[in-house]
Amino acid sequence: MKRAAAALGMAAGLWLVWQRARRKRPVSLKDKVVIITGASSGIGQATAHAFAAAGARVALAARRAEPLARTQAALAIYGTPTLGIPADISREEDGEALLQAVLAAWGRIDVLVNNAGVSYGGWLVDVPPERVRALVAVDFIGPARLTQRALAIMLRQPPDADGVRGHIVNVTSMAGQVPEPGMTVYSATRRALDAFTLAVRREVSGTGVRLSSVYPTWTTTPMVTGIDEAGLQRAGVLWPLEHFDAPEAPARAIIDAVRYNRRVVARGGPQARLAWLAEWITPELVDFYWRALVDLPAYMTLMRRLGTGGSPQAQPLQPLAAGEKLAQPG
Ligand SMILES: NC(=O)c1ccc[n+]([C@@H]2O[C@H](COP(=O)([O-])OP(=O)(O)OC[C@H]3O[C@@H](n4cnc5c(N)ncnc54)[C@H](OP(=O)(O)O)[C@@H]3O)[C@@H](O)[C@H]2O)c1
Repeated sequence: MKRAAAALGMAAGLWLVWQRARRKRPVSLKDKVVIITGASSGIGQATAHAFAAAGARVALAARRAEPLARTQAALAIYGTPTLGIPADISREEDGEALLQAVLAAWGRIDVLVNNAGVSYGGWLVDVPPERVRALVAVDFIGPARLTQRALAIMLRQPPDADGVRGHIVNVTSMAGQVPEPGMTVYSATRRALDAFTLAVRREVSGTGVRLSSVYPTWTTTPMVTGIDEAGLQRAGVLWPLEHFDAPEAPARAIIDAVRYNRRVVARGGPQARLAWLAEWITPELVDFYWRALVDLPAYMTLMRRLGTGGSPQAQPLQPLAAGEKLAQPG
């Protein structure tokens, strides 16, 4: 008993020392040139406020010009220079134009936050093929191509006073670490982007360019309109240990990733952490949770609102009931 207590005390002490060591020498964000995609809403918008409040120059990108202009106007209170650049990150030419516009204005790119994303939920059999392609294009190919292009710029630019040439933060999701039914394609893109980010981080280690992957969990933004804690709890998904984060929580995680060069920063409550650990140690336990504890049809009813602005998709195709045969063509 005494030995166990001593071991526990030593582990806690080491953990505290490690945490302090990691927090050493935060990078300054003052006057840094920061690009944030998907900056007109939710997590991206909160991140734009956080960087502007820290004195960074912020370039905001999203497809729709009007919400983008509104977000840019709201940043005026911080008195730092901003740019609003309409861009669709799934289009090659828009990605290139975005980076060139920032280089033309400010001469370098210190931070790129690949945050723009789309979602779509429900039974996989109901997901239209164009949605599968759109999810892969916006949630994986877009940020991967922007990372490639920004990396080429950052590797050539001189390091700043902190010795950093540039930092790319890719916003993925805990759904990439603990893949979820009802958001199958989305989970896959988030996992792909995470693996890509951490592989590139290893590839450029020692060059002065840094990469981080940030895992938000349920966050109250327009992406999840129509899905709430109460509904998820009724379906057995969110236990009392879990909650929805405000967009400021992942925004702080993104800032932390840059200031302290974090490899990975996760957000969310204890349930998300437990699920992450369980997925790592014993994924069968997570399989069991979904099979035995979650009311899947009730959960899917909610998931059909994901990424649709709160309105359920029309005409869902339900999976076959036990023993039911697939209809034969002709
Ligand atoms: N909310 C959550 O629960 C949650 C959880 C885990 C991870 N995340 C991740 O966090 C990120 C932000 O999500 P959010 O919840 O803040 O979503 P959101 O409120 O719906 O905002 C998405 C932003 O991305 C922009 N966008 C979408 N498609 C784009 C495209 N093709 N090109 C450029 N911009 C585009 C949108 O503006 P336009 O429509 O005008 O382009 C908007 O500014 C996403 O990567 C998402 O996967 C969210």
